[in-house]
Amino acid sequence: MNILVTGAKGQLGTELRLRTRETENRHWIFADIIADEGIVPLDITDEAAVRRLVEENRIDLIINCAAYTNVDRAEEDEATAERLNADAVRILGSMQTRILHISTDYVFSGEGWIPCREDDPVAPRTAYGRTKLHGEEALLQVNPDAIIIRTAWLYSPYGNNFVKTMLKYGKERDKLTVVYDQVGTPTYAGDLAEAILTIVTGENWQAGIYHFTNEGVCSWYDFTIEILRQAGVQCRVEPILSSQYAYKTPRPHYSVLDKAKIRSTFSLTIPYWTDGLSRCLKAM
Ligand SMILES: NC(=O)c1ccc[n+]([C@@H]2O[C@H](COP(=O)([O-])OP(=O)(O)OC[C@H]3O[C@@H](n4cnc5c(N)ncnc54)[C@H](OP(=O)(O)O)[C@@H]3O)[C@@H](O)[C@H]2O)c1
Repeated sequence: MNILVTGAKGQLGTELRLRTRETENRHWIFADIIADEGIVPLDITDEAAVRRLVEENRIDLIINCAAYTNVDRAEEDEATAERLNADAVRILGSMQTRILHISTDYVFSGEGWIPCREDDPVAPRTAYGRTKLHGEEALLQVNPDAIIIRTAWLYSPYGNNFVKTMLKYGKERDKLTVVYDQVGTPTYAGDLAEAILTIVTGENWQAGIYHFTNEGVCSWYDFTIEILRQAGVQCRVEPILSSQYAYKTPRPHYSVLDKAKIRSTFSLTIPYWTDGLSRCLKAM
């Protein structure tokens, strides 16, 4: 089986790269918009280039980790976000390969109060959420055999994310103020990568939409306290309301995802969020 991982230099792509190994019957190709050591160049919005790479390498499966992930910038340039998060996903989905694609909790309104299931009504409130939802819809239209995994609050030792930002500010400042009225579940990208590998290397491909985050629930305030505690960084953290923070883009108040479907379909045991965090900090 020949497997193409797109967006291989991103948080999730890197965690996948670190966990894969070549075997006699499994060959991996890692691609990103800009080439690097062990990474071939591929712009997923370029249909001819995608087709060429897929055909020349006889790709059987695509794992799409590439995306336009800057929520604030997407608000100002929705057209570019749409090209990457929706049009390119349609291109990848029409390659006559299997495809596993990553989506987001931002497809939901974030106004509920019980964990969101896969078939709950979607109602994105942001440009990022809209474009990611269009990606899901486009993919299922051209490739009903696709697997889509929605995740949330992703972090890793690589790229920019909340954990790295809080560690930096926590070391530089005496006090941090962090919102406590936005609740969700952090996701260590390494744990998501493990789940993806279990799915794609197993014999049990079951098309559909799934939810995956780490287990448990916390606010960004609780998350910050735990990050600093585990890292041994001394800094006072004060809880504030979202209304006290100048967000450019509305953020969901409640974005906990129900993971029962992915757990039971693929027999997964999902780590608790503080355990994922401690493994990430060790890897840093
Ligand atoms: N981060 C989160 O909190 C979060 C939450 C929920 C869901 N997700 C979803 O999880 C998935 C993985 O997220 P992530 O945080 O790992 O993303 P990421 O770190 O932003 O990685 C995305 C990668 O895609 C690359 N890329 C950009 N444009 C491309 C193009 N035209 N062709 C090919 N590659 C391109 C990026 O390169 P450049 O860096 O050079 O642009 C980057 O290496 C995404 O689908 C995202 O929507 C993320």
